Amino acid sequence: MAQTNSFFVTTPIFYVNDVPHIGHAYTQVAADVLARWHRQRGDRTWFLTGTDEHGEKILRTATANSMSPKEWADRLVATAWHPLLSTINITNDDFIRTTDARHEENVQKFLQQLHDENYIYAGEYEAWYCVGCEEFKPESEIVKGEGAFEGEKVCAIHSKPLELLQEKNYFFKLSAFGQKLLDLYAENPDFIQPESARNEVIAFVQQGLDDLSISRTSFDWGIPIPWDNSHVTYVWFDALLNYITAAGYGQDDAAFASRWPATHIVGKDILRFHAVIWPAMLMAAGIEVPKQVFGHGWLLVGGEKMSKSKLTGIAPQDITETFGSDAFRYYFMRAISFGHDGSFSWEDLAARYQAELANGFGNLASRTLAMNAKYFGGVVPEPSEYSEADLEIQKLLLAATEDADHQIQKLQIHEALASVWQIVDALNGYITEQEPWVLAKSEETKPRLATVLYTVSEALRALAILLAPVIPEASQKLWCALGLEPALGEVSNQRISEAGVWGITQPGTAQQALEPLFPRIETEG
Ligand code: ME8
Ligand code: MG
Repeated sequence: MAQTNSFFVTTPIFYVNDVPHIGHAYTQVAADVLARWHRQRGDRTWFLTGTDEHGEKILRTATANSMSPKEWADRLVATAWHPLLSTINITNDDFIRTTDARHEENVQKFLQQLHDENYIYAGEYEAWYCVGCEEFKPESEIVKGEGAFEGEKVCAIHSKPLELLQEKNYFFKLSAFGQKLLDLYAENPDFIQPESARNEVIAFVQQGLDDLSISRTSFDWGIPIPWDNSHVTYVWFDALLNYITAAGYGQDDAAFASRWPATHIVGKDILRFHAVIWPAMLMAAGIEVPKQVFGHGWLLVGGEKMSKSKLTGIAPQDITETFGSDAFRYYFMRAISFGHDGSFSWEDLAARYQAELANGFGNLASRTLAMNAKYFGGVVPEPSEYSEADLEIQKLLLAATEDADHQIQKLQIHEALASVWQIVDALNGYITEQEPWVLAKSEETKPRLATVLYTVSEALRALAILLAPVIPEASQKLWCALGLEPALGEVSNQRISEAGVWGITQPGTAQQALEPLFPRIETEG
């Protein structure tokens, strides 16, 4: 396992027209798990998230609430988007807002450079615009309105009427980058993930790219075009640049060079912006393209993409208040194949909480500590000779650690978690077979009992390390109960590679009792 790589991971920056729902939280948890895992690998890690605050959608929402757009954005960031980070235990290194001076100034610098190099030109434009998407819509994504919208052209995603816009615009010569993009996808097959997303993007680019309208004149909530202040920058052109303005572009070349390029985690709804427009923008400016763009699937509620505009939005705290942030993180990372759509249901969440977290893992930890307290006064015993079954556990730790690490490199978070969970299942089976409560009945079998309890304690050490990126609170509690903190420091500072190394727990270590990590949830009715 390499130890000195650099890993820069991002989430989309989210619109502040509304409060977060579990779809936004899902992306943030996924990026956070990757960031925490990479930190524990010893990689130089930088994790960026933030908010997208310009554009017509925000302006309209603010106006409808009798506020200026900046006042509205400040309020939403302070009361909803910042608090979300602690609700779901996110360890971002930076939080960019597109109203930050560092962003606005350097977006202008970038635009000016592209203008100077003739990648931007003035033109006329007339097309159908969806304010929900903040995007002009091609015919293929327009449907006929029904009911209240009978006779109107409607956005296929938002089911709301489109607006016909006719403006003088500045255009970015996106059409000049079709072949360069196709070459990029061909030379770097992992650039777009998963495979289905990659194929879709390639097919889209092969049809030929139109130039992109990148400015607006009908409202002024945006970054002024530096050479023509009657225009503001199109919100997507502004937003995509957050990834480099936050990393130091234009202000701190050394920081930028050490961080860039990024791994972008986005929902598949905005994959094309990230996999087509964004690398083309960077190519035009002579900046390295991103390392990778991963488009994850949608959380579905009642079979439909969950969204606030369709009133199917669920607030993250509705889940964490009952189940806790660890369970929130575990559930979405385990139950959904990363890259595919997944249905959310309270029944599935409650069932997995009970079966996997409470019974599978939590109970394993409490039982082990309780047995060791009972039979060895809570002091880790000295193992005697290892049997075949013990050696199997040791081998599994090594193999599962390597496999999980490999899956994380491929951004297959659910697979990584499944690998780690093999250890949970194996230990539960091991305890059932070894029957420590029987071994405890005679002095003769006490050495064997010591080996069994040492084996499970040491394997729990590995589990705490490997699960810390996903369930950081429970892992840290377990780590402390195992008595490991005085000698080794916090669990989040432990290297992934140490998980599979046998014998780190010292015999004689004093363990402590452990409250249930995942207490029973009382359900009403
Ligand atoms: O698009 N399932 O912001 P946004 C899974 N500001 N993920 C979901 C989801 C769902 N049902 N709903 C939302 C924007 N998401 C732009 C981005 S980036 C330069 C600018 C997540 O507030 C998912 O990550 O509409 C999706 O891509 C993102 O929220 C869209 O957030
Ligand atoms: Mg959206």
